[in-house]
Amino acid sequence: MFKELIDRLERENNLTAGEYLELIRARGQVRDYAAGRAVEVKKKYYGNKVFLRALIEFTNCCSNNCYYCGIRAGNSRAERYRLTPEEILSCAREGYELGFRTFVMQGGEDPYYTDDILCGIIGEIKSCFPDCAVTLSLGERSSESYRALKKAGADRYLLRHETCNRAHYMKLHPASMSFENRMNCLRELKAIGYQVGAGFMVGSPYQTEEDLADEMIFLRDFGPHMVGIGPFIPHSDTPFAGFEAGTAEMTVFLLSLIRLTLPRVLLPATTALGTIDARGREKGLEAGANVLMPNLSPGSVRKKYLLYDNKICTGEEAAQCVDCLSARVRSTGNITVSDRGDYNNEI
Ligand code: 5AD
Ligand code: FES
Repeated sequence: MFKELIDRLERENNLTAGEYLELIRARGQVRDYAAGRAVEVKKKYYGNKVFLRALIEFTNCCSNNCYYCGIRAGNSRAERYRLTPEEILSCAREGYELGFRTFVMQGGEDPYYTDDILCGIIGEIKSCFPDCAVTLSLGERSSESYRALKKAGADRYLLRHETCNRAHYMKLHPASMSFENRMNCLRELKAIGYQVGAGFMVGSPYQTEEDLADEMIFLRDFGPHMVGIGPFIPHSDTPFAGFEAGTAEMTVFLLSLIRLTLPRVLLPATTALGTIDARGREKGLEAGANVLMPNLSPGSVRKKYLLYDNKICTGEEAAQCVDCLSARVRSTGNITVSDRGDYNNEI
């Protein structure tokens, strides 16, 4: 009976919230079947390719105070850093030589990086590497700012909504942050013409199975090009230090449901998934994920961008991560490719 629900989801890319909930509750019984179907769907649009994104974590300064996040403004123990435009460009150069064709500029919400500064950096990257995509992940900004950055050459924007439940959002964030603004930003980014990524943490404090079912409905309705999900992992210097982490099992199952709901979606197996389970990223790829986002930030700052405890891949060498990842990808029967890895609108 659960298999039938999976089959219908594959055919119609749609279930009711109640049906998603049944699947989420029964996950142990249909996990392997769902993963098998999700991989078939992924293959139809992307073959056995896994796309790599070079993640450049260029600032860990943040004016927000999300309760879960290790780089929240209130964490006085975080050692703050900002990369200069030259440093960012040299990361991109190294990434290009290693075969990356997408650069993801990710940072906290750091007002130091004005539109002028960011547009300059984006313009430089695009003129040095015209065959590459630039993805931004800079949190909430004004619609004018999003437009200016797009005009400067940015192609994609990642902004996890974190939860689609307003009341839950308010338990994860201080009153200074607004669910409505978050959702407006996502809609705005889409309207401006970015390829847009949404996403949420799995097993974040106060999240229910009903919330997870609603996430599937939200994603189906919003229709993002990319979806980033990963387990919540407590960070010891945050108000959520004492909460339990989310599980790899639930995360991996949700990856399959997301693939079946949004067949063409670009779906990373995230670093957080690799952090709570040594084979987490491989399990994600074996359940329908098709993107990996290794950290290409300079070795000197890698240990400082700590959103959660025990983060993996904080060693010195970017090239080591690339070799390690391609071996992991091969072990799942896939291959890493040097490709922009755009959303497949073709077939
Ligand atoms: N555990 C897991 N993921 C986290 N993020 C932030 N803090 C944590 C944490 N403690 C995620 C958020 C954010 C993304 C960049 O990292 O979903 O959007
Ligand atoms: Fe930086 Fe939330 S603490 S975005």
